[in-house]
Amino acid sequence: MEQYVIKGGKPLYGTVRVQGAKNSALPILAATLLVEGIHEIRDVPHLSDIDVMGRILKALGVRMRWDGNNIKLETSTIKTSRIPESLMRQMRSSIFLMGPMLSRLHEVIITPPGGCAIGARPIDLHLKGLSLLGAKIEEGDGFIRCTATKLRGADIHLDLPSVGATENIMMAAVRAEGITVIRNAAREPEIADLESFLNRMGADVSGAGTPTVVIRGVPRLHSVSYEVIPDRIVAGTLAAAAAMTGGEILLTHVVMDHMGSTLELLERTGAILKFEGDSLWVKGSSQLKAVGNVVTGPYPGFPTDMQPQLMALLSVTAGSSNISERIFDGRFKHVKELVRMGAKLHPLKNSVEIEGVSHLHGATVQATDLRAGAALVIAGLAAHGTTRVLGLHHIDRGYDHLDRTLLQLGGQIQRWSGKVASC
Ligand code: UD1
Repeated sequence: MEQYVIKGGKPLYGTVRVQGAKNSALPILAATLLVEGIHEIRDVPHLSDIDVMGRILKALGVRMRWDGNNIKLETSTIKTSRIPESLMRQMRSSIFLMGPMLSRLHEVIITPPGGCAIGARPIDLHLKGLSLLGAKIEEGDGFIRCTATKLRGADIHLDLPSVGATENIMMAAVRAEGITVIRNAAREPEIADLESFLNRMGADVSGAGTPTVVIRGVPRLHSVSYEVIPDRIVAGTLAAAAAMTGGEILLTHVVMDHMGSTLELLERTGAILKFEGDSLWVKGSSQLKAVGNVVTGPYPGFPTDMQPQLMALLSVTAGSSNISERIFDGRFKHVKELVRMGAKLHPLKNSVEIEGVSHLHGATVQATDLRAGAALVIAGLAAHGTTRVLGLHHIDRGYDHLDRTLLQLGGQIQRWSGKVASC
């Protein structure tokens, strides 16, 4: 069974460039379907989620070729509007294909999407938005079929600021007739990145990054070359690892404005941060301290995607902290695993009390989802002794060769395939 074997207790030192953002690359790859032509998407990380998106695009008829971290896509050759069930189930982000396919092909047939096991993740807001744009939605035995001969602009209020629903509606609306307004839209930086990409293609979208996104339908789009933004969650994970191991690292290719709440919390622990241009310097402290109450929230709140990593860090700070999870209802599976490593965590209903301990110890632990896996890896880097992290397929969904990145920073981590050694 594949695992990371981590010898902990060594501070991280050095410089790394942060990978391109998974959560930008996925909707942008889907958005290339909006128009025929040859697109180039640059700085795309090598991740299993991107691989699944690529396999779906190929199954639809797109020709696709990697060149380093760039992907060239020829989207003139689409031959079907049905997304294969086996691929759809592998990744929730396959839902992003609905908007662009409906716009381009007037039909899309999907099965309910899969994804990380982090609680209920319905798609009602996606379907509501598409239906307000004029799509007819039929739900059958295990499939959903959306059709629309013509999409028309609409005023759409989202009950929750869903990232995916905001993006899906933006993509469906760019060539709709008239004006679409999305109210209570999500404000994540990846939405602004999608807006930039769509506008580069000739769309007329404004307001991304605020709660109101306005899309004026245009008759034509064209293919483009576009580079995605840096991954703020990967940057935050590495910064937390440096703080937790008492190391000192320089992250390049970082957008500070995207990381406000994460950096504010790291500073509250006593980690020292300095920014210059697109670089972030992080230094840990031998006396990290607890931060009190933390609540995850939609951007610009503290990201749910950093919650497990912050919990790992707070488990070795002096004093008590509390993390409440407000975005997903099942996102505390890492708690049990961190406890195996000596963390003192007390789960309540939607929150966890963290009583800081002087250090964690190595153990064999299971990554149950993407960010839980990242939390266990950084905990292992800081722990005394050897940690084995199983379930690497979760981590591979969002971190481009995490072991290589950490090795570059002096971390003692090895990817190991074979039988589970006893611990
Ligand atoms: C995106 C991110 C994911 C991140 C999440 C929240 C991508 C590819 N993934 O996921 O990394 O953890 O935002 O920041 O960008 N909801 C509904 N109905 C819907 C849609 C969502 O009730 O139709 C709920 C969800 O169950 C969840 C909340 O809204 O409780 C937020 O989900 P959403 O913002 O849609 O997350 P994703 O787009 O799936």
